[in-house]
Amino acid sequence: MKNIVEVENLTKYYKKFRALNSVSFSVEEGEIFGFLGPNGAGKSTTVRILNTLLLPTSGRVFMAGHDLGKEPYEVKARIGLVPEISNPYLELSCYENLLFTGRLFGMKNRDIRSEIDNLLDFFELESKRNVKAEFLSKGLRRRLTIAMGLINRPKLLFLDEPVSGLDIQSARLIKRLIREANEKGTTIFITTHQLNVANDLCDRIAIIQDGEIKALDSPDRLKKAAKQSQAVEIHLDKLKDVDIKELKSLKTVERVDVNKGKAKLFTEHPEILYPLLISWAEKNNIRIEIMNTLSPTLEDVFIEITGKGFKKGPEGQKKRHKKV
Ligand SMILES: Nc1ncnc2c1ncn2[C@@H]1O[C@H](COP(=O)(O)OP(=O)(O)O)[C@@H](O)[C@H]1O
Ligand SMILES: [Mg+2]
Repeated sequence: MKNIVEVENLTKYYKKFRALNSVSFSVEEGEIFGFLGPNGAGKSTTVRILNTLLLPTSGRVFMAGHDLGKEPYEVKARIGLVPEISNPYLELSCYENLLFTGRLFGMKNRDIRSEIDNLLDFFELESKRNVKAEFLSKGLRRRLTIAMGLINRPKLLFLDEPVSGLDIQSARLIKRLIREANEKGTTIFITTHQLNVANDLCDRIAIIQDGEIKALDSPDRLKKAAKQSQAVEIHLDKLKDVDIKELKSLKTVERVDVNKGKAKLFTEHPEILYPLLISWAEKNNIRIEIMNTLSPTLEDVFIEITGKGFKKGPEGQKKRHKKV
């Protein structure tokens, strides 16, 4: 596989604050690559550097065969960026927005027009061709913005939080369109804090936190490698009366979560735990109504790797930074 992006030891300081710490990764041509991390992790900083909107403090980036530091314009012509906030000109129609974007890239009118026809058709926006962006719903506006990002037929498209804030239906359609655009040959780089987006769309995911890549692999392999996240879930007829400490003390159990009549016992060895649970229940005269093995979710992986959920904001990071 050829790499379309190669990032080597990228470091970025904002004054004395280190937002990226020697980040290295590569994106393979043809894949959907996800950049996943909590707020303040350094996702936007990375994407802005890759899109020549921000200079790194140090490090090198090769994209589409060019050194970003030396040939930024060669790179820029081969990539597209869909920012987090949809940004079509509200007073322009769908057609005019696409035309304008094509002209910004210096494309020929004839090429722009045929590309516009393709994109309006592909994004199911044909009936909105002459409708001003102002009158489009949020989901339609998002589709138009992604279409604008594809007008110059980029080899690589950056999508910042592509479906965040959209209703379920629009989000589903946009995910399908992203997949189809990828199948037609565009490499996609998605930035997201939404685990389900990364899980549903991405061939590989980099988990970034505090300006460092903590893990990089396919969603399935990340889940397989997650140690603590296998669990046995039991539904008990009288969980209230159960001494949770006893469950915790069973062999191989690492942690127990109790919630509404269900207990989730985290273990690396469900097969060892099963018979122990059964004899524990018999001894205590408790009936186990349901017993399931739960496979790890991407959220489990994320919590295991970062030690926390998605609540952490930039303030938390700054405090930590000072202590170091
Ligand atoms: N222009 C800036 N000046 C100072 N600090 C910044 C600036 N932009 C971002 N940061 C800080 O750098 C860190 C990474 O930010 P960012 O790349 O926007 O994270 P993400 O996109 O993952 O939420 C955060 O702690 C943020 O507060
Ligand atoms: Mg961001």
